[in-house]
Amino acid sequence: MIQLLVPDLPTIEELLPWLKWIDNNKWYSNFGPLVQKFESELTELLDSNLTTVNSGTSALELSLLALELPIGSKVLLPAFTFPATVTAIKYIGLQPVFTDIDPNSWLLTPNIARQILDKITYDVVIPVTTFGHPQPVDEWDQFNKDTNVTVLIDAASSFGNQPIGKRCITTFSLHATKAFGIGEGGLIVANCADFIQQVRALSNFGFENGVIVRYGSNAKLSEYHAAVGLAQLKRWEQIVQKREVIWNIYQKYLAKTSLQSMPENHIPAILSVKINGNIPILTNKQIKTRRWYYPPLYKHPAFTDIVKISPQENDYLPITENLSLLGLPFHTSLTEEEISYICNNL
Ligand SMILES: Cc1ncc(COP(=O)(O)O)c(C=O)c1O
Repeated sequence: MIQLLVPDLPTIEELLPWLKWIDNNKWYSNFGPLVQKFESELTELLDSNLTTVNSGTSALELSLLALELPIGSKVLLPAFTFPATVTAIKYIGLQPVFTDIDPNSWLLTPNIARQILDKITYDVVIPVTTFGHPQPVDEWDQFNKDTNVTVLIDAASSFGNQPIGKRCITTFSLHATKAFGIGEGGLIVANCADFIQQVRALSNFGFENGVIVRYGSNAKLSEYHAAVGLAQLKRWEQIVQKREVIWNIYQKYLAKTSLQSMPENHIPAILSVKINGNIPILTNKQIKTRRWYYPPLYKHPAFTDIVKISPQENDYLPITENLSLLGLPFHTSLTEEEISYICNNL
């Protein structure tokens, strides 16, 4: 079977020096020395203020919580995303509003957000970096400047690919299947040191100077996960190169088919192709596939009551509704032979 996703994480030998460090420190959580080192190396890499948490979902939840919005405040998001984007909004007691995506980039763009703002007011917009495709951060900075709406970019799968804005909050997932995977983990990045400090406090129950100032949660990254992160940082350049090679081989073979690949991507998270007609079943060819973000969120039983606002006339979201995509195997262990076999079978 050709697997859909195969994590590319450090080996035991690469991990061992960091695990020994934990042994010596006897410090396992609560912002220990490995978490501090991991955060400081990430700060250098991304050149911004940041804090780590235990998942991409926590990163979204705590960012929303730190905004201190009144219960029921509206948050705009694409209906074409992973469920965590909407569950985070609901979990914090805010009101999600679904909208459509751009037909070419499959992103909720600043242009769409402005069109919706002509119809309803909302306090936050969560543009998603669909399948790793980066959001236009300068345009979002301008959007925030013009409208005062908070922009929280859900860049779960775009570590290393999503530039950090001056006025946007950006969250990443470090789940094992992501390009930069550490098992479980998340990251909140923002230009504002105070905001990051608040999120960090919220990830530790809401403690500040020994007392709880606001209701928080326990979303701290453990020293073990930081150990994986530190080992993974040493392999990062190599991972990026490998993913670029796999992407380019795919483009070569997909060009021989009539299928449209995803838009150009620097560090693709996953690879989806647009299918005209019936979705091919490839399991009998020993190829694992998945329809990512399918069905659209408004078709999940838990989310059917969420309001939809279309950039067009009614509450119909035509691009999301009609997008027919198939996710193909995409990971660094794929060979050219396997990619050629997959594309031939499409
Ligand atoms: C768009 C999006 N947001 C949020 C998440 C949640 O991240 P995590 O699994 O780290 O909680 C994911 C996970 O894949 C995602 O794809």
